Amino acid sequence: MATIIRNGSIVTSVTPQGIVKQDILIKEGKIASIGRIENIEHQATAENVIDASGKYVLPGLIDVHVHFREPGQEHKEDWLTGSMAAAGGGVTTVLDMPNNKDPIITQELLDRKKEAAKKSIVNYGFYAGATPENAKTVSSLQGIVGVKAYLGSSTGSLLLGSLKDFAVLIEHATVPVVTHCENEQLLLYFGEKYAATEMHHVMRDNLCATVSTIQAALIAERLQKRLHIAHVSTKEEIGFLQHIKSFSSNVTFEITPHHLFLDKEYFIKNKNYGKMNPPLRSREDQQALWKAVKKSLVDCIATDHAPHTKEEKEKSFPSSPCGVPGVQTMLPLLLNEVNKGILSLQDIVRLCAENPARIFRLKNKGKIQEGYDADLVIIDMNVIKEIRDEDQYSKCGWTPFHGWTCKGWPVMTIVNGDIVMENGKIPAEHKEYKERYKGCNGRLVEANQWNQ
Ligand code: DOR
Ligand code: ZN
Repeated sequence: MATIIRNGSIVTSVTPQGIVKQDILIKEGKIASIGRIENIEHQATAENVIDASGKYVLPGLIDVHVHFREPGQEHKEDWLTGSMAAAGGGVTTVLDMPNNKDPIITQELLDRKKEAAKKSIVNYGFYAGATPENAKTVSSLQGIVGVKAYLGSSTGSLLLGSLKDFAVLIEHATVPVVTHCENEQLLLYFGEKYAATEMHHVMRDNLCATVSTIQAALIAERLQKRLHIAHVSTKEEIGFLQHIKSFSSNVTFEITPHHLFLDKEYFIKNKNYGKMNPPLRSREDQQALWKAVKKSLVDCIATDHAPHTKEEKEKSFPSSPCGVPGVQTMLPLLLNEVNKGILSLQDIVRLCAENPARIFRLKNKGKIQEGYDADLVIIDMNVIKEIRDEDQYSKCGWTPFHGWTCKGWPVMTIVNGDIVMENGKIPAEHKEYKERYKGCNGRLVEANQWNQ
């Protein structure tokens, strides 16, 4: 089946002319051609014509950091609800973290997750989890885009707390290593010392993240291996990353929307609903992140979508789990900044599609280009709408941004040429659980081989 998207303004971060008005012909899930309709319509009698007049067409967002929880904790999220939240937010590919109830540390466990993910309505890739035992071999698991190393404890049991183990892991890695950088020893120190304060950001001081980021980055540089640092949150880390990136291309990093848009006051007011690792920080840290975005120091924005139920979040401070959902709200929050003149649409494309695809070498993703997968999001910069708990597709049913009004919203999400979201809604057929909804399933992403 062929589809034509007519009259949209196409945005890529590298379009030399800026944003161009073109039509897009989609055939068999791929972008078949781009041009003016007079030139391309003879190539197909499109059965589906989408009018994008007055709207922008962006490559679908690639969120390199989600926790969709299945298998193991389906009461928090599963591949259908998580992927619906992604589609609702213009995200067409997600890379899923390995800290499931049974962490994804072997091929067998990974294959179980691959089966579960078949009901996803967006494309997906997986990370394997690093342990002291599998550090030498884990990157050879089949069908992963990277290996995740928790250098400090967070949600779940995965931990690679010793620098020796980390060095062994990264030395043997044949895919990028992604780190959760919070130094385990310092987490223990600050955690004990300040337990009585019940202040998450005090118990997980900036120093925990900073020391760990510096150590991981220097080791990666010394061994000349690819390292991607997740959720950088402090001004000190930004200062160091600016330094190391001035001479090294081995290190990339992401920041999250919650660290960009919220600070520790949110945690103080909303308690566990603002509790995540690494924690919300000070206004100065937040400003350092914005500055780093504007200077193009940041490689990508990724959500760390980490849903927990309201019931779990209502538990007392120490036992309430860490993490907030985010995959559905990232794009409207960023589009609102475009309308304020803080960001450009091209910044969003670079940070949320092109760079993620480049960093993880995802095949045919992240660009609007002939031959690439037809993963697209159409946005309307004039739609004004409130983010509301009731509209979240995530099973957790809440968002830290409830009540925020954004101008600029995704109005259609297309995955492999199929419409999976229209006017903020997921077509009814996706909502009913179907093991394999014909023609509208996400697919496992392929990554080009890493040469290291
Ligand atoms: O806040 C967090 N939640 N940080 C993590 O590192 C893990 C995540 C989760 O899985 O809930
Ligand atoms: Zn995470």
